[in-house]
Amino acid sequence: MITTTHSRRPLVGRFQGKVALVTGGTNGIGYAIALELLREGAQVVVSGLPADGAEGEHAFAAAGFTPFVVTGDLASEAFCDELVAAALARHGRLDYLVNNAFSFIAKGLDATREDFLRSLSVGPVAFARLIQLVAEPMKRVGGGAIVNVSSISAKIAQPNRWTYNAAKGAVTQLTRCAALDLAPHKIRVNSVSPGWIWTREVDKAAGGDRATYDPIWGQFHMLRRMGLPIEIAGPVLFLLSDDASFITGSDLPVDGGYNGLGPEGLGQNTKIAGSH
Ligand SMILES: NC(=O)c1ccc[n+]([C@@H]2O[C@H](COP(=O)([O-])OP(=O)(O)OC[C@H]3O[C@@H](n4cnc5c(N)ncnc54)[C@H](O)[C@@H]3O)[C@@H](O)[C@H]2O)c1
Repeated sequence: MITTTHSRRPLVGRFQGKVALVTGGTNGIGYAIALELLREGAQVVVSGLPADGAEGEHAFAAAGFTPFVVTGDLASEAFCDELVAAALARHGRLDYLVNNAFSFIAKGLDATREDFLRSLSVGPVAFARLIQLVAEPMKRVGGGAIVNVSSISAKIAQPNRWTYNAAKGAVTQLTRCAALDLAPHKIRVNSVSPGWIWTREVDKAAGGDRATYDPIWGQFHMLRRMGLPIEIAGPVLFLLSDDASFITGSDLPVDGGYNGLGPEGLGQNTKIAGSH
């Protein structure tokens, strides 16, 4: 587990008595979201790939928590069904869903049909299936909230990213359409769009050299640094909470200002930077 998650929130019990399902909660951003929910009193069901289950359980235990961890591949509709059934069997209710797990397949001209189908099935298709499955249980408890983890990649072009960016783009529209249809049932659906967050894919790309690459990739953001998983968890918990009771169908960029930069970037190569 890459140690980029530090809990800074006091235990306040904002989600006491509630049950949350967090996909991809064994690692990275999902782990940080699940940990914050646990710290704030929720019962949490976490899913992850079988290869990640033990690492996730260890990390939660080290932090003093024992969420219910269910492993499997979300590309399988049968696993999506099993996951929600297991969560309901364990806790008897579901109040929140965080659709976070995704397949990071970054391919362009070389992408195969299988690459596209894998990206879409672990991504928006599984997101949609889980939303369908949690809708009834949420209706039974009088409503709920769903957050889909999208990305800056949903809205911009990046090199060799047809698969991932198309799948993230679909998450934006899924969020809006599901929000519209579930609003009468008091179920809100929103998304967050992180910028570059230091998790294992990024660490792999940097060859583990965070000290060198964080300042370089940080320059893509107004804040001149990369984000941490905990910095996504806070906004996700906000969107789940009653503080966001009038927010649905929205996307919240959590990107250190990435989204607002123009072609001049931070202005390093612009002679007139600072004079306007
Ligand atoms: N790290 C970033 O820079 C960044 C930026 C923008 C958006 N995101 C998004 O944040 C989310 C989490 O990414 P992360 O960086 O924390 O990833 P990560 O690799 O650290 O964790 C991914 C989690 O998803 C699970 N998972 C992956 N494929 C799965 C599958 N087929 N079935 C079931 N579970 C599966 C893994 O077991 C793991 O728990 C993703 O939706 C990703 O697209 C990440």
